[in-house]
Amino acid sequence: MDSRTALYGVIGNPIRHSLSPKIHNAAFQKLSINAAYLAFQVDKEFLGLAFEAMRALQIKGLNITLPHKEDAINFVDEVPTDLDRCIGAINTVVNRDGRLLGYNTDVPGFLGALREELQFNPETKSILVLGAGGAARGVVFALAHAGADKIYIFNRTIERAHGLQGYLKTHFPETEVKILHSPEHAKDEKIHLLVNATSCGMRAEDPAAFDLQFLKKEAAVYDLVYSPTETLLLKKAREQGRRHANGLGMLAGQAAISFGLWTGQKEGVRQIMLEALRQ
Ligand SMILES: NC(=O)c1ccc[n+]([C@@H]2O[C@H](COP(=O)([O-])OP(=O)(O)OC[C@H]3O[C@@H](n4cnc5c(N)ncnc54)[C@H](OP(=O)(O)O)[C@@H]3O)[C@@H](O)[C@H]2O)c1
Repeated sequence: MDSRTALYGVIGNPIRHSLSPKIHNAAFQKLSINAAYLAFQVDKEFLGLAFEAMRALQIKGLNITLPHKEDAINFVDEVPTDLDRCIGAINTVVNRDGRLLGYNTDVPGFLGALREELQFNPETKSILVLGAGGAARGVVFALAHAGADKIYIFNRTIERAHGLQGYLKTHFPETEVKILHSPEHAKDEKIHLLVNATSCGMRAEDPAAFDLQFLKKEAAVYDLVYSPTETLLLKKAREQGRRHANGLGMLAGQAAISFGLWTGQKEGVRQIMLEALRQ
């Protein structure tokens, strides 16, 4: 590092568990880019100041993580893409000579992971999404944008599921969005893919996020959780011989797209990041 080293980072709270510094620094090193990536713990009340600091210190790029993805939109100068504005949450900021541009790379990161790891194209498919939090919002928008025919939402707190359904229908009126009131009701539906976008599975004592006996045997399973690398849901999917993948591919995918927006480097970045994660 020297006086020309470009600075990047991630802001969130908590942040010490974040794998982003590890994977971005691995890519900077491998591609011989004079840059460093740090994790900053930022409280909600200081979010505006963090963006001012980004301008003042000419930090080239930031990732935004929980709990700031939605509020961050208020501090950037522009959100260039329509879809990111509809989602209302950003995870990447690019500093173009003092002008801050916000993006959501979780969406293409998720679709890329489905493509790369499950060879799954959502177009014309029926997909069941577990959860109604920030990650589920990105997932359902991604699926609707990619042409899914039917999206089912199942969430522990049913009111949040209805909220997400309404929000999605406003932006994608042509996509059928149904609330599943109970896992058993999945039995009567032809579901091609189950996506776990809840945090159920992160703790050792968590049950499987869904009872897979209610899904047709061809249905694949994507779990956004990446730590542990095999949740109980994925273990059951593996034992039942279903196509399945954990959230590491999405994590590397969204990070590689952020990296591309900042540096213009795209080739091989996702792979470098995946290798850093697997270590
Ligand atoms: N792979 C990636 O790149 C990636 C990216 C983003 C997020 N994620 C992962 O996605 C997960 C969700 O993140 P988020 O940002 O959406 O969190 P969030 O906004 O806090 O939402 C959490 C969701 O999980 C549900 N939930 C929590 N504990 C549960 C349990 N024990 N049983 C059933 N449902 C439960 C909540 O249901 P209620 O509404 O009932 O509370 C809510 O729907 C996390 O594990 C996160 O690490 C992964």
